[in-house]
Amino acid sequence: MQTNPNCSAWDVTEAEYPRLGTAADKLRFLLRYAVLAPSNHNTQPWMFQVRGNDVELYANRARSLRITDPDDRQLLISCGCALLHLRVAIWHFGHLDRTHLLPTPGDPDLLARVSMGDEDSPTAQQEALFAAIPRRRTNRQLFRDDSLPDQLQRELVKAAEREGAWLHFVNGREQRNTLADLVAEGDRQQWANQRFRLELAAWLHPNNSQARDGIPNSAQNDGDLLSVAGPIVIRTFDLGEGQAAKNRDIAAYSPGLVVLGTEADGPTAWLSAGQALARMLLRARADEVWASFLNQPIETLSLRPKVAELCGRGGCPQLVLRLGYGPNVNPTPRRTVEEVLLPAV
Ligand SMILES: Cc1cc2nc3c(=O)[nH]c(=O)nc-3n(C[C@H](O)[C@H](O)[C@H](O)COP(=O)(O)O)c2cc1C
Repeated sequence: MQTNPNCSAWDVTEAEYPRLGTAADKLRFLLRYAVLAPSNHNTQPWMFQVRGNDVELYANRARSLRITDPDDRQLLISCGCALLHLRVAIWHFGHLDRTHLLPTPGDPDLLARVSMGDEDSPTAQQEALFAAIPRRRTNRQLFRDDSLPDQLQRELVKAAEREGAWLHFVNGREQRNTLADLVAEGDRQQWANQRFRLELAAWLHPNNSQARDGIPNSAQNDGDLLSVAGPIVIRTFDLGEGQAAKNRDIAAYSPGLVVLGTEADGPTAWLSAGQALARMLLRARADEVWASFLNQPIETLSLRPKVAELCGRGGCPQLVLRLGYGPNVNPTPRRTVEEVLLPAV
């Protein structure tokens, strides 16, 4: 049971699944797993509508991050994460999923239409993903030095590939240092932009905030500048040099450093990237591995091609993450299903 009422969405119990209910009742319940997905700045930029036996996923562009994410690339990646959570929940409750991405060409906000397909028993792998949903969080604490087992690395690569993306492990001191330098340069460029700082500050909330979105102070790294600097400081001062130095070290020395990418760039690829991200994060969590993000060089236009070059595999890098073992962290707030559900039709 969560003590923070803004986190009550995490208290989802399987026993409440309406086994005897209609398909619409079941889908509404399964959305409780979808809303636990990660999203950029915890904007939760999704809306859902139940239509008969289908549920539709919509982009909520009122929650766009216009400076950090001007093309809504990460907004769609975040929605892709919610979609993967929904599919995993459908599998767990004994069905195949039927999912159509961008089913109406004239409606770019309608991202997916999903229904429960034939009955089917979940595999052990699918069950492990489901069990990891309530245990997954973005963990910004320092990780221990222990490296990730080779077998797990291969499985994470496979998890991304199954959803149409690729995952590149950045190994070797030279490659790591190059990516760490790009992360630091991304920090410097972003923090020098006051509009970036204003946008970030708007989504960072004190721990006693009533908000059911955004990033609470407690989710920052304990030793992080951002955890002690309030929104006023962030809005006012360029903390780029400090952030760059800290994140450079974190990138260079994390047990696992990965780039997740896709062959193409555009809405379909972003939805694939989101599903791949969520699947990879859940697979990692099933083996007690945490993750956090270092996307600065991908969000910075001039640096993204350099990340692509470093991966040396063609295609488009979408996210940079570090992986490893570390202390437990608390969940962050979520809006409830009722708050993201459009009236049924
Ligand atoms: C597409 C995407 C991009 C993200 N980028 C960052 C990032 O650059 N830095 C960061 O600290 N967290 C990043 N996050 C993590 C979110 O801040 C996090 O998912 C959100 O605050 C909710 O917290 P939770 O993951 O612990 O549930 C990103 C998440 C997603 C899905």
